[in-house]
Amino acid sequence: MKNYLKHHEWQIIEEGLHPHENRISESIFSIGNGRMGQRANFEEGYSGDTHQGSYVAGVYYPDKTRVGWWKNGYPEYFAKVLNAPSWIGIGIKIGDLSLDLAQCTVENFVRILDMKQGLLHRSFTATLKDGKKIKVDAQRFCSMADGEVGAIRYSLTPLNFSSNASFTLPVDADVVNKDANYDEKFWEEVNKESQMGWAIVTASTKKTFFHVCTGMEYNLESEGKRFTGKVFTNLRENYADNVVETELKENVEVIIYKYGVVLSSENHPKEYLVNLCRAKLEEASKKGFAGLLESHVAVWAHKWEECDITIDGDIAAQQGIRFNIFQLTQTYTGEDERLNIGPKGFTGEKYGGSTYWDTEAYCLPFFLSTAEPNVARNLLVYRFKQLSKAIENGIKLGFTRGAALYPMVTMNGEECHNEWEITFEEIHRNGAIAHAIFDYIRYTGDKDYLVDFGLEVLIAISRFWAQRINFSDDKQKYVMLGVTGPNEYENNVNNNWYTNTIACWTLDYTGEALDYVKKKSPAKYSALVERVQFADEETAKWKDISSRMYYPEDKTRGVFLQQDGFLDKELIQTKDLRKEDRPLNQKWSWDRILRSCFIKQADVLQGIYFFEDRYDRATIKRNFDFYEPMTVHESSLSPCVHVILASRLGYKEKAYELYLRTARLDLDDYNNDTEDGCHITSMAGTWLSVVQGFGGMAVKEGKLHFNPFIPDQWKSYSFRIAFRGQVIKVKVSKEKIETILETGEPMEVVIDGKNLLLKQ
Ligand code: BGC
Repeated sequence: MKNYLKHHEWQIIEEGLHPHENRISESIFSIGNGRMGQRANFEEGYSGDTHQGSYVAGVYYPDKTRVGWWKNGYPEYFAKVLNAPSWIGIGIKIGDLSLDLAQCTVENFVRILDMKQGLLHRSFTATLKDGKKIKVDAQRFCSMADGEVGAIRYSLTPLNFSSNASFTLPVDADVVNKDANYDEKFWEEVNKESQMGWAIVTASTKKTFFHVCTGMEYNLESEGKRFTGKVFTNLRENYADNVVETELKENVEVIIYKYGVVLSSENHPKEYLVNLCRAKLEEASKKGFAGLLESHVAVWAHKWEECDITIDGDIAAQQGIRFNIFQLTQTYTGEDERLNIGPKGFTGEKYGGSTYWDTEAYCLPFFLSTAEPNVARNLLVYRFKQLSKAIENGIKLGFTRGAALYPMVTMNGEECHNEWEITFEEIHRNGAIAHAIFDYIRYTGDKDYLVDFGLEVLIAISRFWAQRINFSDDKQKYVMLGVTGPNEYENNVNNNWYTNTIACWTLDYTGEALDYVKKKSPAKYSALVERVQFADEETAKWKDISSRMYYPEDKTRGVFLQQDGFLDKELIQTKDLRKEDRPLNQKWSWDRILRSCFIKQADVLQGIYFFEDRYDRATIKRNFDFYEPMTVHESSLSPCVHVILASRLGYKEKAYELYLRTARLDLDDYNNDTEDGCHITSMAGTWLSVVQGFGGMAVKEGKLHFNPFIPDQWKSYSFRIAFRGQVIKVKVSKEKIETILETGEPMEVVIDGKNLLLKQ
């Protein structure tokens, strides 16, 4: 755990340069806008430890799968999130020396991520080896108002010298991936041009042939006037720049404004990219840094109105929740149904792929409550559009009759994960996709979604479950063999309680959905039945499975068992583990982990969380008390589910302890891996912890319920929820709970079990 960042309500602040933590800071201070983003690399270049990273949403490379023992059914490739061409560089040379913070004395270094404005700010004074002292103040953002534009304001003031200097202003597509199976470069040049004042490089990804056109234009200003200096243009393979030679005068500030435009062939025809880039660069430079910033900040102001959470009396918790909301919001804006939420967003390359079950199980509720309705809907439509690929994936694995297995990891609907115990066995992801449809409809009331999109997905998933489950003569029950549950520290187990539960729930829900659509929209129903060749016997089989499914349980303890044989393990608790043994996944052999009882992330408890209404308090308590002490929370997705259940059970201290762990996971580098990028999808879990955990929010029969409590460490907290056209603000303090209807028609909410009519 690290603690080098200053606590502040709206900002992340690093005071003093921390070369050893630089990669961590580069992740944490990342900026993005849903279409593109960058790690917080220094504009002027840095020869110290750094991981350079710029990313463009939806652009990936299918790296050939590399495994020891090839298993039939494996995908051919693993989708790599690609490090993309960069426009942020501003090389500074003063006399003969380059400005490089690893090579000079640095004072007053401050790096600030201003989350309110979405602005990355850095300032410092550097003394070069020849004694020249220069003050720098740099600001950068990726515009939320136009996802293809970014801007930098880079100010330099010589403090004790006048000298000749040069500025190198590149577009650089000659980039490498940290994560590459065969150490190759993934970008091939298509065209490049460099003229006085601007440069453009278009590069194509190998194999996938995405074209990304990246351009930069700049202006120089000093003493309130524009100047040009002496300009040289340079071209190299995958690279174009302008080098400006000029004179710096002691105590006279020079400002470099650099504008970046990034266009992808996913959004524009390839042949127009360069012209469009030119036009957008001109427009950006005409608007200027201040003008672009104003529109960008206005979008952020609106977003914060929708999604902010305030916590009074605990700055670390306040900073933590805002950081999580900020990163999630800048990763996914929901405007494009082809995009999704990568576990690292725009902050790193690790994990590859963009879509995991994380989206449905964790992120969807955040976007449902805090963004326009189409944002959450687009997350569902994304899966709907990939249904044919999920069916193909099913066929590849031997399933028939339109059974769909959605991929564990994907970019475009194809599976690109290749560890058999996960790719083939961690099939509970299918259940999360079905549950997301239910969750969306429960929240929005938009049942038409079932008619037009949802039912088709549900049928395909149910067909998969019906074929994946078999009847055991011995047990005279249905069973599901050879699976991996959410707890990836157990592989190839039989009857994972969570997977059995969500599978049968899907079968039941699909049955209800069929009845609903048949009644509501008979014509569409008939067309669908015809298209997918649905037969009535299928529902009869689903009902039989659901009524005769086997669920492992321990009747003596009154708990559901994670899987068959769980009680054969030596049942020890995490508190009895030595500190040196944590995290288990870095300290223990895999074999030892598999045999142990330790649980990576919520598994049985994930099921209890999803289907809470089915269980009484005593059952929830018994299961929580049994599993929480064995859970090591080595997935960032884990603590939030435990916070929510601990809150329900009144375990305030436990809930708060686990909340802090999720909220400050990256800021404090709890898992020692923030340098690879931030844990974007689990950030939604932090929001869930406050709203569903402490706030006790749930939707039941079309109404919002709250059952809040306040951690002892806080004075008050508040959040806003958008619900069916209304926006309500919930404020909880030690003395009272306030619910205020901010927009929309009067509505009823249920607070601590009592109905309350809210009016404006
Ligand atoms: C978790 C998975 C998750 C993945 C991506 C893994 O560590 O066990 O549940 O989908 O990370 O976040």
